[in-house]
Amino acid sequence: MSEPLRVGIAGLGTVGASVARLLASTQGELRRQCGRPIEVTAVSARNRKRDRGVDLSGAAWFDDPTELARKADIDVFVELIGGDEGPALQAVRAALEAGRHVVTANKALLARHGLALAEMAEKRGVLLNYEAAVAGGIPIIKTLREALAGNTISRIFGILNGTCNYILTRMEAEGIAFDACLKDAQRLGYAEADPTFDIEGHDTAHKLAILTSLAFGSRIAPNDIYMEGISNITQADIRAAAELGYRIKLLGVAQLTDSGIEQRVHPTMVPTASVIAQVHGVTNAVAVETDILGELLLSGPGAGGNATASAVIGDIADIAKSRPGFQHGPVFGRPTKELKPYRKAQMRSHEGGYFIRLTVHDRTGVFAAIAKRMAANDISLESIVQHAGPSEGSSDKTVILVTHETTEAAVRKAVEGITKDGHLVDKAQVIRIERAA
Ligand SMILES: NC(=O)c1ccc[n+]([C@@H]2O[C@H](COP(=O)([O-])OP(=O)(O)OC[C@H]3O[C@@H](n4cnc5c(N)ncnc54)[C@H](OP(=O)(O)O)[C@@H]3O)[C@@H](O)[C@H]2O)c1
Repeated sequence: MSEPLRVGIAGLGTVGASVARLLASTQGELRRQCGRPIEVTAVSARNRKRDRGVDLSGAAWFDDPTELARKADIDVFVELIGGDEGPALQAVRAALEAGRHVVTANKALLARHGLALAEMAEKRGVLLNYEAAVAGGIPIIKTLREALAGNTISRIFGILNGTCNYILTRMEAEGIAFDACLKDAQRLGYAEADPTFDIEGHDTAHKLAILTSLAFGSRIAPNDIYMEGISNITQADIRAAAELGYRIKLLGVAQLTDSGIEQRVHPTMVPTASVIAQVHGVTNAVAVETDILGELLLSGPGAGGNATASAVIGDIADIAKSRPGFQHGPVFGRPTKELKPYRKAQMRSHEGGYFIRLTVHDRTGVFAAIAKRMAANDISLESIVQHAGPSEGSSDKTVILVTHETTEAAVRKAVEGITKDGHLVDKAQVIRIERAA
């Protein structure tokens, strides 16, 4: 029998405890697949007494994950603590310095320190695997790193945050307001007590930064992402979208343009008949457009203990199957020195269709003034519809515009002009329309 692969797990929470349980319950199958056993020989968490639902008495306990990374008798260090600084960063650095392979589910850590950690892994000739960090159980990292070799990717986009998709799905299906949906998501454990990180788009942005680097061979650039969350999406938007044949989804989109790479996270209107519009609830999906393959869409569970642990175990199994002397694949799909500097496309140059919802005073000349501002900015309209006011009994009117392809700069200028004209009761709502098959 070959030597066992010795694994140290730091963090035994939702994901870490699931990994430990699944490694125990699937050990026979994993041994057959990998040709050697996988054994958890060391663990670390804050509370030693907490029951993790698995017998870990055979594993050495470390209060300090960095001590585990440095000193434990392990081949692989599995980081499932979370956070982009502090113990997770320290321990991962220590593990790489000590020449151990690393597996992590930590998107925040990779978005912030991915390049430096990849350089360390390369120098030491070890693997840094992170399938679980983006879209949980969906094997999108392997797909980009291995399966799509040779393809040139032009756009990658996806539903990368289950909390937001759950909220938007319920708002549409049940006509419930954003705040009520968020409370339910918190009650059901889909949203954190402080939901800002999810609903304002930060979590999606971390995952998008990783996907962008893999897709375009560029250095990871988490701070160059245009970001808007879903907290100002109302029932009026959801209803108008449905009427026009669209559904609202929070997408992370990275796209190659003539002026560079666009990275953006914002609510988008996608055609109701498109495949991505059928992705409901906490499910995630990632679409990739390439020159050779055309369009590919992967969808599945994006979070949760077992789904995430499934990806972590796949990463550990890859290491178990590798052999000493085996040339390890680069962390971001190509050697770090081959990663191009990130060239940012300005959001003002974004091209696409736009949905604009205006609440206006009921006065003569308002329609004409809106049309004039649109024309002055070379924006041609696909449709313009007027509805009764946003609330019953109000004399105000709702005007919904859908533009043909135009630029972000033109739309911003037109909306600024309409706002200056003094006809608006509320701030204009602008939602970008995303092409999707
Ligand atoms: N949950 C998901 O569905 C999901 C999905 C994809 C990716 N991820 C990523 O997976 C990672 C883990 O997430 P999670 O949901 O499992 O988190 P979690 O439930 O909060 O678990 C965190 C674990 O880390 C331990 N820990 C915290 N600080 C520590 C320290 N200083 N030293 C040692 N151990 C420490 C905790 O110990 P105690 O248990 O003793 O408190 C706990 O076991 C994160 O990077 C997250 O972004 C999670």
